[in-house]
Amino acid sequence: MSKLKALDENLNITNKRIILRVDLNVPMQEGKVTDKSRINKVIPIIKELINKKAKIILVSHLGRPKGKVDEKLSLKSIAPILENLLDSKVYFFNESYGSEIIEKSKKIKSGEVLLLENIRFNKEEETNGKNFAKELAKVGDIYINEAFSCSHRAHASVCEITNHIDSYAGKLLSEEVNVINMLTNKAIKPVSCIIGGSKISTKIGILTNLVKKMQNIIIVGAMANNFIKYKGHNIGKSLFEKNKENLLKDIIKKCEKNNCKLIIPEDVIVAKSHESNAQLKSLNKIEDTDIILDIGENTINKIYNIIDKSKTILWNGPAGYFELEKFSIGSNKIAKKITENTKSKSLTSIAGGGDTIAAINKSGCYNGFTYISTAGGAFLELLEGKILPGIKVLEKK
Ligand code: 3PG
Ligand code: MG
Repeated sequence: MSKLKALDENLNITNKRIILRVDLNVPMQEGKVTDKSRINKVIPIIKELINKKAKIILVSHLGRPKGKVDEKLSLKSIAPILENLLDSKVYFFNESYGSEIIEKSKKIKSGEVLLLENIRFNKEEETNGKNFAKELAKVGDIYINEAFSCSHRAHASVCEITNHIDSYAGKLLSEEVNVINMLTNKAIKPVSCIIGGSKISTKIGILTNLVKKMQNIIIVGAMANNFIKYKGHNIGKSLFEKNKENLLKDIIKKCEKNNCKLIIPEDVIVAKSHESNAQLKSLNKIEDTDIILDIGENTINKIYNIIDKSKTILWNGPAGYFELEKFSIGSNKIAKKITENTKSKSLTSIAGGGDTIAAINKSGCYNGFTYISTAGGAFLELLEGKILPGIKVLEKK
């Protein structure tokens, strides 16, 4: 990979309008942000630009509104949070491109911040539309991408925009790319990964590739339900993805071929609903009305054992429905064990993904890992050595 184009530290950006692509795609529940890690991470960068007296125009998406306005996914509610953390005025504008915004971007004072509405309210964002990107580019003089977690998307505010404005890789983005590249090239074996969460179809493809590089793959979270079901167990009303049997079969076969151990839960925590009591069950005791919401004790012990034997650990995806305390035990214990071994056994631990970070934060282990990436899909894809469209456009020619 060639080097990324970075903004010259000595360049005078006073009064310059900087379009800063950030990832404010934070987890929300009932309109409230449940984890601010992604916001926190970008604050020092914005502060630096404020100090340099630039005019900062923040561009982000929130959720997947599929090109339509969806009030629930408005970035409006993020503005006061930013304002609070920056200790500086943040203007919100309920559009994300067009003449009014160009006007506004010119009017804000040096050191002020303008947050644009969810960029994915526009269809052309996800289609990487040329005209749209051209219009968006007019909102600034310089474009900086600090949204590593969006760099696996060939979207207009990540890719096409760079063809219409002087564009650079931000510090955070460069840092993430460097850490992951170092990890793929120099990871000390045994390397184990813990993959969980519920975005099954997006991760199963990546798993197929990870098999070749890892000695152990541990599957947890809703993803594991597919494997549990495939092994012939009843999973009751648990979340799973239909018609993935061939894919699962393929993963199992690839693991065998590559000498990679595949570990799936052997006991689970179930409940009749999110509100009802949690119950520990072995796989053969799951009833039709049960929902699997966390991993069980035996599984946790098995994971401990693998963590103890590993020199490098990657973690992406929580072990259960960690948002509720009673289903967060698996994720908490994994986070604590990794933290412990990172300190005492010089384990290299890397975690990534919005939900994973939220779970790690909840467990109080945020500072216990070697590196935490705010990205999910981008993190895994880069680990795989894939070329990320948003990174490619920022490479030095
Ligand atoms: C993420 O949360 O993974 C990034 O913000 C990208 O969002 P997406 O998966 O909806 O493209
Ligand atoms: Mg994602």
